[in-house]
Amino acid sequence: MQLLDGKKISEQLLEEIKADVEKLRSGNKKIPHLAVILVGNNPASETYVGSKIKTCERIGFKSTLIHLPDTIEEAVLLQKIEELNKDSDIDGFIVQSPLPKHISDEKVINAISPAKDVDGFHPENLGRMALNMPAFLPATPYGVITLLDRYDIPTAGKHCVVIGRSHIVGLPVSLLMMRNSKPGNCTVTVCHSKTVDLKSYTLQADILIVATGQTESVTADMVKEGAVVVDVGISRVPDDTKKSGFRLAGDVKFDEVAPKCSYITPVPGGVGPMTIASLLKNTLEGVKRKTA
Ligand code: GUN
Repeated sequence: MQLLDGKKISEQLLEEIKADVEKLRSGNKKIPHLAVILVGNNPASETYVGSKIKTCERIGFKSTLIHLPDTIEEAVLLQKIEELNKDSDIDGFIVQSPLPKHISDEKVINAISPAKDVDGFHPENLGRMALNMPAFLPATPYGVITLLDRYDIPTAGKHCVVIGRSHIVGLPVSLLMMRNSKPGNCTVTVCHSKTVDLKSYTLQADILIVATGQTESVTADMVKEGAVVVDVGISRVPDDTKKSGFRLAGDVKFDEVAPKCSYITPVPGGVGPMTIASLLKNTLEGVKRKTA
């Protein structure tokens, strides 16, 4: 069993991006500028957004955090998005989810200019991605395929089973694994909360991608010997032996599944760090595309 070390690979990616930013700087070219809109005070979102901004600083990007109260009216948020669409200094921006209930996710996503949608959530980017046209790929799925690519894991002709069909992970990652591309060219099965006899599918997976948010729900009896397992989940589990009172766990029961795998992502240190690196890669690619 070999670990798919997302921490290590994301460090490599960030160093590559940083070197590109230095080249832009020495050539007096525009420095990539990412803006992040955060609405409200969801603690997990504050942590994620904080890491995104900190990582921008580390690699030499400009960044702007726009923190809005959770009472903000939808129309005011949409107006802010329009301002960012028009701001020529901003190369890309994201609106961190989840949003408060009174705000429509769909309206927000549709309001973002596809050319600045570095989260890759706009229907135009998702459509272009599905058709294998140049597009911003959603950060987590992009991180997953980059991890498989950097470990040179063969995917063509393999059976990839995805558990989960969310717009952020399950749906786009299943399309990416199916595309005529490398990584890709898998035969893909997508399982979800209404799937009957989940195990009968997961046992057939050469590559199993788990994105359900159901902590440690994939157990050893569900995994084929030699499978590649990618765990997208991350959650806190109470643990009295830890000073913090919790430990981080994925959607896969790592200790019992890992011995059966050829490759598996740890949690933390697997897909998580790849997500931020992929978002920043998108922002850099956006700048390059504009100036190409
Ligand atoms: N919330 C959880 N994951 C993401 C993400 O990739 N982008 C945004 N904007 N919000 C998220």
